[in-house]
Amino acid sequence: MDNIFISYLCFALLVSVVSATYSDCGSTLGTVSAIAVTDCKDSDAQCVLRRNSNVTIQISFVPNKSIQQINAVVHGVILGVPIPFELPNSDGCKDSGVSCPLQEGQTYTYSTTLPVLKKYPRVNVEVKFELQDQSDSDVTCSMIPSKIQ
Ligand SMILES: *[C@@H]1O[C@H](CO)[C@@H](O)[C@H](O)[C@H]1NC(C)=O
Ligand SMILES: *[C@@H]1O[C@H](CO)[C@@H](O)[C@H](O)[C@H]1NC(C)=O
Repeated sequence: MDNIFISYLCFALLVSVVSATYSDCGSTLGTVSAIAVTDCKDSDAQCVLRRNSNVTIQISFVPNKSIQQINAVVHGVILGVPIPFELPNSDGCKDSGVSCPLQEGQTYTYSTTLPVLKKYPRVNVEVKFELQDQSDSDVTCSMIPSKIQ
């Protein structure tokens, strides 16, 4: 096992609220209740993102205030360096299963699909997935330890 993996594991154990795999990185206007990633089980230490495939990420959460609009902001963190990832659809109110505006205290399940391109390197990556409100505040912030394969 390498050090990065061990760090991920310690980090996940310390701050995880959802499962062993996912951790929270500062959800402020909401609480995440569940995360689901294609072919990834809660017991997996890392989610395997297969190249040349589409991966669907679902985040269930409860806003603690009413929110006009949400946008998805995604980074791939490789060796601690966050690299912006352009989602095909970053509008969290469109084709995401979430209808805007969002009401306080209600459970929403956001869903998006992203392509894992064949040209991506085979690396360990933490997917930092944020749903932000109209003023760029984090409704949810989740870290998904992953491995591109
Ligand atoms: C929502 O919760 C966060 C902390 O989890 C807090 O900072 C914020 O003030 C809360 N907002 C409301 C409207 O309760
Ligand atoms: C991923 O989804 C897009 C849009 O639906 C589709 O065009 C593409 O062929 C899919 N890629 C793979 C590898 O399945």
